[in-house]
Amino acid sequence: MDSKKGPGSQRNPGAEESRDLEINPGLKKSTDLKTPDLKTPDLKQALDLAGRTLSARRFRHTLGVASLAEDLARRHGLDPARARYAALLHDLAKEIPEKQQVCLAQRWHLIRYSEDESCPSVLHGPLVSYWLANCCGLADRDILAAIAHHTLGAPNMSRLEMLIYSADLAEPGREFPQVDNLRQALYHSLEKGTLTCVEHTLHYLEESHRPIHPLTRLTHEDLRRRHGFGT
Ligand SMILES: [Fe+2]
Ligand SMILES: [Fe+2]
Repeated sequence: MDSKKGPGSQRNPGAEESRDLEINPGLKKSTDLKTPDLKTPDLKQALDLAGRTLSARRFRHTLGVASLAEDLARRHGLDPARARYAALLHDLAKEIPEKQQVCLAQRWHLIRYSEDESCPSVLHGPLVSYWLANCCGLADRDILAAIAHHTLGAPNMSRLEMLIYSADLAEPGREFPQVDNLRQALYHSLEKGTLTCVEHTLHYLEESHRPIHPLTRLTHEDLRRRHGFGT
């Protein structure tokens, strides 16, 4: 597998390059610094980028998310190509070392909560989204939001955002006990299925005594309110 070529390694050329190299000491080849032009979304280009950037395991997960996202999009009247495109790109920053992710998030002013730094695994979505928009020219705001919010959700998620959030949790490679129920709920209703996914995540975090990010709580409250359950 090639060296990592995700957002941390493909920042704008020019003055920033040398600073990126400082936090990406593994980069050797000048070609690693090429930033893809994504002004015109192209599924083959996204697939190729994911394949070159991610480990085999993460790439398998990405293909699983893309497959479920595409299926759910067809089922619920969304554009399957846009769903697949967002899914293919959603985890591009996942394998950048967490220390580097924090550095990039600080530099790009993406830190919103203290939990973002104490639990940096939540940063990769906003990082990819920022990089795609500001370095690669991707202008589809709904796709960018879906990628940014795929880990924690957000209040007022669009249907595409819900779809990517949920497909990330329930993709075919996931094997936890309730995953079939989550998939069924998602095929039945994207909105209610997403609420079920958020509730599953909250339950898992509480049971395993892990910290719960404020955005996940806000997402839960928002989805309950939208479905008339109150808060
Ligand atoms: Fe992710
Ligand atoms: Fe993912």
